[in-house]
Amino acid sequence: MAAAAAASGSVFSFTFLFLLSSLAFTISTQQSDRFIFHGFGNGTKNQQQLLRLDGAGEVLPNGLLRLTNASALQIGHAFFPRPLNFIRGKSSLSFSTNFVFAMVPQSPNLGGHGLAFLLSPAVDFSHAVASQHLGLFNATTDGASTNHVVAIELDAMRSPEFQDIDNNHVGVDVNSLISIDAAPASYLSPDGKNLTLQLLSGRPIQVWIDYNDTQKLINVTLAPMDGPRPERPLLSTSVNLTDVLLDSMYVGFSAATSTVTSEHYILGWSFSQTGRAEQLDISKLPKLPPVRKERKKVEWISIVFPILAAFVLVGIGGFVVCLIRRKKYEEICEDWEKEYHPQRFTYKNLYLATHGFKEKQFLGVGGFGKVYKGVLPKSETAIAVKRVSHDSRQGMKEFVAEIVSIGRLRHRNLVQLLGYCRRKGELLLVYDYMPNGSLDHFLFKDDEKKPTLNWPQRQRIIRGVASALLYLHEEWEQVVIHRDIKASNVLLDADFNGRLGDFGLARLHDHGTNSHTTQVAGTVGYLAPELTRLGKATTGTDVFAFGVFMLEVACGRRPVEVETAAEEVILVDWVVRCWQQGNIFKAVDSRLQDAYDREEMELVLKLGLLCSHPVAALRPSLRKVMQYLDGDTTLPEISLESAGVGNFGSYSERSDLYFSNFGSYSRASINSFCSQDSIITTGR
Ligand SMILES: *[C@@H]1O[C@H](CO)[C@@H](O)[C@H](O)[C@H]1NC(C)=O
Ligand SMILES: *[C@@H]1O[C@H](CO)[C@@H](O)[C@H](O)[C@H]1NC(C)=O
Ligand SMILES: *[C@@H]1O[C@H](CO)[C@@H](O)[C@H](O)[C@H]1NC(C)=O
Ligand SMILES: *[C@@H]1O[C@H](CO)[C@@H](O)[C@H](O)[C@H]1NC(C)=O
Ligand SMILES: *[C@@H]1O[C@H](CO)[C@@H](O)[C@H](O)[C@H]1NC(C)=O
Ligand SMILES: *[C@@H]1O[C@H](CO)[C@@H](O)[C@H](O)[C@H]1NC(C)=O
Ligand SMILES: *[C@@H]1O[C@H](CO)[C@@H](O)[C@H](O)[C@H]1NC(C)=O
Repeated sequence: MAAAAAASGSVFSFTFLFLLSSLAFTISTQQSDRFIFHGFGNGTKNQQQLLRLDGAGEVLPNGLLRLTNASALQIGHAFFPRPLNFIRGKSSLSFSTNFVFAMVPQSPNLGGHGLAFLLSPAVDFSHAVASQHLGLFNATTDGASTNHVVAIELDAMRSPEFQDIDNNHVGVDVNSLISIDAAPASYLSPDGKNLTLQLLSGRPIQVWIDYNDTQKLINVTLAPMDGPRPERPLLSTSVNLTDVLLDSMYVGFSAATSTVTSEHYILGWSFSQTGRAEQLDISKLPKLPPVRKERKKVEWISIVFPILAAFVLVGIGGFVVCLIRRKKYEEICEDWEKEYHPQRFTYKNLYLATHGFKEKQFLGVGGFGKVYKGVLPKSETAIAVKRVSHDSRQGMKEFVAEIVSIGRLRHRNLVQLLGYCRRKGELLLVYDYMPNGSLDHFLFKDDEKKPTLNWPQRQRIIRGVASALLYLHEEWEQVVIHRDIKASNVLLDADFNGRLGDFGLARLHDHGTNSHTTQVAGTVGYLAPELTRLGKATTGTDVFAFGVFMLEVACGRRPVEVETAAEEVILVDWVVRCWQQGNIFKAVDSRLQDAYDREEMELVLKLGLLCSHPVAALRPSLRKVMQYLDGDTTLPEISLESAGVGNFGSYSERSDLYFSNFGSYSRASINSFCSQDSIITTGR
């Protein structure tokens, strides 16, 4: 007579209890047993009657039997509460069982140690240890024939001392963890494929174990829970259990965790000593706890959260970097500048081009600011960037408009202005890069590293600058006054052609100052007398400065040199004096070593004097200057005695006319004067 116990409700539990008491009666007469559990009660008061538990074993509220939780080195046992009779000779020792288990590893494919279905004469496993011993034996008891334990192990870790084949295997154990037969966990699919089963997949797996005492054969079959029973068993092992099984045997499960852990679950269990165990009804089995999902969630979170956190951190970092960069590359761009967009450079590009305005890129101090060399990132154009500090917004609009219109000037002897950029308190002007730098370094004796220029080169430079000035004064659509012609504003390209730079910049100084004073921009020694008096720049004042420039080039010295003999301090005076003394060539740069055409030299010197005539009306126009230089018109015979020229001799004395403030300066005051950034400010 068979007793079936299904434990998923109070009625079943009651029935089971009732049947159990009748079993105790029937067993003694029938010596056979069968039962089936779809879950093991609801985890409250009846579980002790349904199963005999020890260690970590417990039945969860939904009826799920959990042999171990995920703590390390746990052991859990669960036995059918009373022993079954295997009375040799009298009854068959055959048995059959079907159960569903699940191992939920602590992290994917990392769990342990495993579980076993077992038959044992006793339920006291206090001596047994965890880990590789699976809660069955200890080191001493393992392998002892006195154990009388038959176990089918589902082992998720490889223990070499027990000759485990791998870390995912099924083995038949008799008294020892050294299996008499083992195979990797696998099953034959309905279409005959040998498929691996991952014991640690966390998914429920169904097991069938059949022992036929007549055949002395134990068969073990595995399959995923929701799959059909495969026709061929995984293990079909010959074993004579006659001497192993005792008259009275408990049947149940053992599981153990190691230092890596799994939760070991039994979802349902069917057992029979007479014929095949009843097939479990999968639909009646309790569900694995949402713990599994939570685990997944936890894993999901534990993976995603750091990534998210990293992203957020990177994001914040990026934001901060962006802010810093933004600050670093901050520039001012107002609405009215939109139309100048093509001439506008981004500060970032200029910053990158000049490597952050590094000292290495520093070219020198030009008029109004430091100049840096750079290479534009994309076009690889060499540029020179001038940083002009400018705090005033007043007049900025007009100035930028002027800059932009200057950018439209095209002449081979002008340094091309490419564009601009504006930042707080700063204006950046971008020019073509001139590889040979400014002329003054080649011209003046104080820079001896540079080779001196020969006369044809100097002449070509003078002519080039003159033609550029002519273009500015007469040939362009507007009259452009340079305002600051001098050797240091003439730059030399790769072929030593002179190119006039920095034009129009002087106007910057006019803007942005209060209206009560007028600042006269320009450089001492190049300023026409009427400019210092009236503060008005004209083409005439440009011609004056150009005259001084010509003398500079010819004489190889600055217009004012305080370190020389008194009569040589002012260049113009010195040239006149030489002329008066009958040898104008005495003023010529000694480094030319007389290697020049005397006629050409005389022309340049005299034209220089004529251009820098204190009386503006007597100065020639640039067109005329060009004609004289080209030899198209001969320079009028100017003699020291002629009315205009007569003034030359008295420069130094006539303080009201020429260098009005200048002639009477003592050497010391000139010194201090020159140190003041070369800008003269006169009150109106
Ligand atoms: C468990 O079953 C008992 C009867 O066996 C019942 O009284 C109890 O309410 C059940 N508990 C839960 C949580 O279902
Ligand atoms: C596992 O169960 C033991 C008691 O049996 C308990 O001390 C431990 O905290 C549990 N571990 C987890 C992870 O729940
Ligand atoms: C194993 O268990 C037996 C029986 O309880 C005990 O006598 C023996 O000392 C234990 N051996 C170890 C290594 O713990
Ligand atoms: C599947 O293949 C492995 C290795 O070839 C073998 O050990 C195992 O017994 C096979 N499984 C089945 C169900 O035949
Ligand atoms: C075990 O499997 C073999 C081979 O499939 C089969 O012949 C035998 O009848 C099976 N025995 C039991 C007890 O299921
Ligand atoms: C099984 O073992 C018993 C006891 O050792 C023996 O009498 C019997 O012949 C064995 N059966 C087989 C088939 O080997
Ligand atoms: C055991 O095998 C024999 C012979 O193959 C068969 O007659 C018998 O029914 C089987 N017993 C069980 C319980 O399957």
